[in-house]
Amino acid sequence: MAAGDSFYIATPIFYVNDVPHIGHAYTEVAADVLARWHRQSGDDTWLLTGTDEHGQKILRTAVANDSTPQAWADKLVNESWLPLLQTINIDNDDFIRTTDERHESAVKIFLQKLYDDGFIYSGEYEGYYCVGCEEYKQLDDLLEAESGDYAGQLVCKIHTRPVEILKERNYFFRMSDFQQKLLDLYESRPDFIQPDSVRNEIIQFVKSGLQDLSISRSSFDWGIKIPWDDSHVLYVWFDALLNYITAIGYGTDDDNFRRRWPATQLVGKDIARFHAVIWPAMLMAAGLEVPTRVFGHGWLLVGGEKMSKSKLTGIAPSQITETFGVDAFRYYFMSAINFGQDGSFSWEDLAARYQSELANGFGNLASRVIAMVNKYFDGAIPSPAEYTEADLGIQSVVKQAAEKADAAIQRLAIHEAIASVWTIVDELNGYITLQEPWALAKDEANRARLGTVLYTAAEGLRALAVLLSPVIPDSTHKLWSAIGAAHELGHVTDQVIVDAGHWGQLPPASRVHSIDALFPRIESPEPAGV
Ligand code: MSP
Repeated sequence: MAAGDSFYIATPIFYVNDVPHIGHAYTEVAADVLARWHRQSGDDTWLLTGTDEHGQKILRTAVANDSTPQAWADKLVNESWLPLLQTINIDNDDFIRTTDERHESAVKIFLQKLYDDGFIYSGEYEGYYCVGCEEYKQLDDLLEAESGDYAGQLVCKIHTRPVEILKERNYFFRMSDFQQKLLDLYESRPDFIQPDSVRNEIIQFVKSGLQDLSISRSSFDWGIKIPWDDSHVLYVWFDALLNYITAIGYGTDDDNFRRRWPATQLVGKDIARFHAVIWPAMLMAAGLEVPTRVFGHGWLLVGGEKMSKSKLTGIAPSQITETFGVDAFRYYFMSAINFGQDGSFSWEDLAARYQSELANGFGNLASRVIAMVNKYFDGAIPSPAEYTEADLGIQSVVKQAAEKADAAIQRLAIHEAIASVWTIVDELNGYITLQEPWALAKDEANRARLGTVLYTAAEGLRALAVLLSPVIPDSTHKLWSAIGAAHELGHVTDQVIVDAGHWGQLPPASRVHSIDALFPRIESPEPAGV
């Protein structure tokens, strides 16, 4: 992608029936890292997130809590979902709620267009419905519970709760018309659905035949009214999917819509079908472009199962950030799990990586280099003299790491990008051990060499700060000031990321200042009661 391109990235919008857990935070952080990377590449970047507030699930939760659905949604958004963004340091450009007037009015414009163009008709449907998924289910999606409260009943495989039989006269979207068009899309744009495991599953699903989709409900009224029939409200998924275009001006601000759309969409693999089948079919029907790509990431597993609130395995993001800090949270989930695959969460793994990678690897490197510049050069970055092979080796590691990291980000391989950048940490630590600046410092005859070694180390830190800024924004901000770069070069977030590998940007004579450990030692990594 060339600098200055438009990069629009969206997360799913989250149900407000419950508070966020680390699975939700995971998607947010991934999208935020990608958005920050693109902003630092000079791209015209937009990060959208928000909440999904209509439908039966929210209505029932509100009623069970003696609340109206609107009051319930307001409470959850203000007390849980917006604060989540602070807790994990998300720099989103917009936050859309499906109860926003801007969303509701644009949804009606979209629906009316599909209706006028003949893609919606009235019909009858009877089927099994899972309120947890907010979806009609086929028999393949169900199983008979063998034991427990629901023994003998048909339950949804995802929620392990009984499904309900619904029979309704509804409006239907002619999704079956799009079977071949979708298959052609998947064929002509192999990157449209990623990773391949998700792509293959979706292709199989569409090949097995698409039915028209029931898109309205008349048995309850918590939703957007169908413009031509206000006895029906819109099916919650049809409503929610449209957030990606209503938020950027579909139907109201054509210029902005053209500027932003289409988007890169990150979703959990469990909701990839909605995004890679229903959503592009809706867009095609409206004559709009389909997303740039739909990436279905894996699940965070706890004890081998998808972590979820309904199964009581939910972990609140703040449980982690309060002990380890927000940067450690972001780094851990982005580096320890291959983006696109499932990943098991454990406190032991988190604590071990924190200690070895962040505290001993990166944090210690930064403190040592700054301390030596202070001690041997009175806090002024020395000028490099003649570079030796070892120094040139570091320069080439930095250059390659920056290139590989950028290439990995373009493929959404966030973990690979971090692994590439981490080669700088490892190589620099090895370099310092071998060059032994503390030994060089003992003999005035080695002063020029000592200066070159410490310049090389400090310039390596400069590159690290720039390349890691999208992942660990707080610590890189601190490091950037500590090596004197803020004074000389401006904000770290203004440094062009694709230039990070160009050697020699940190001006000699920049003043360093000491910092507290970037990743302090943690006495008791596991919060009480976990
Ligand atoms: N509201 C719908 C999305 C509508 S988008 C138009 C929804 N909401 S959700 O709150 O249930 O889930 C939001 C996202 O969180 C999904 O992408 C889902 O995959 C993700 N996760 C929920 N549990 C998760 C894990 N345990 N691990 C990783 N992601 C998880 O679905």
